[in-house]
Amino acid sequence: MRVSEANSEDLAGYFQLLSEEGSDVTNLRKLGLPVTLKDYEEKKTNLPTWLHILVALEGKEVIGASTLTGAQNLKLEDAAIIADLRVTSGHRRSGVGSELMRATLDHAKTHGIVRAVAIVSEMNIAGVRLFQKFGFKAYGVLKDFYDEGENAINFEKYLA
Ligand SMILES: CC(C)(COP(=O)(O)OP(=O)(O)OC[C@H]1O[C@@H](n2cnc3c(N)ncnc32)[C@H](O)[C@@H]1OP(=O)(O)O)[C@@H](O)C(=O)NCCC(=O)NCCS
Repeated sequence: MRVSEANSEDLAGYFQLLSEEGSDVTNLRKLGLPVTLKDYEEKKTNLPTWLHILVALEGKEVIGASTLTGAQNLKLEDAAIIADLRVTSGHRRSGVGSELMRATLDHAKTHGIVRAVAIVSEMNIAGVRLFQKFGFKAYGVLKDFYDEGENAINFEKYLA
């Protein structure tokens, strides 16, 4: 397994991963980011801010991905949002999410980002634990952020 920045060949697999049954793409939608390949083709020249996609690949198969984007629209110039980080259901609990998180934080640092932020449902135990494991701290709660009425936790980590 290796993690790298997505190239055009990886995009179909990336959007396939986003469309897996049970996937929640609320964060991406709320940020105005594409959630289908068609959506991406239409929006790519007119995105609200920059977008970097990292993929975890097993051969040519996309088994995980992380979506990193700018936070200028939230008036956070030197921050980046981990808008989504996921692993395909058949490859979870074997370190792929951690590898993606490591690569995402390195990538952000390399691009001069000093603070990474993320929003995770308070019901998402795996997601909450993953962010905590990597030293993210909760700094707020967004009430009823998700359609199902779940609250979201704001997480942040300083990268310096
Ligand atoms: C969260 C997610 C990315 C973790 O991916 P993964 O490949 O299983 O993660 P790893 O195997 O590297 O595990 C990393 C840590 O995450 C936590 N974790 C992962 N799955 C967990 C679970 N089912 N229950 C509790 N903690 C879990 C643990 O802290 C784990 O560390 P440990 O192995 O030292 O205990 C994966 O469950 C997923 O894709 N979920 C759906 C999308 C999502 O919720 N993303 C997070 C919000 S953007």
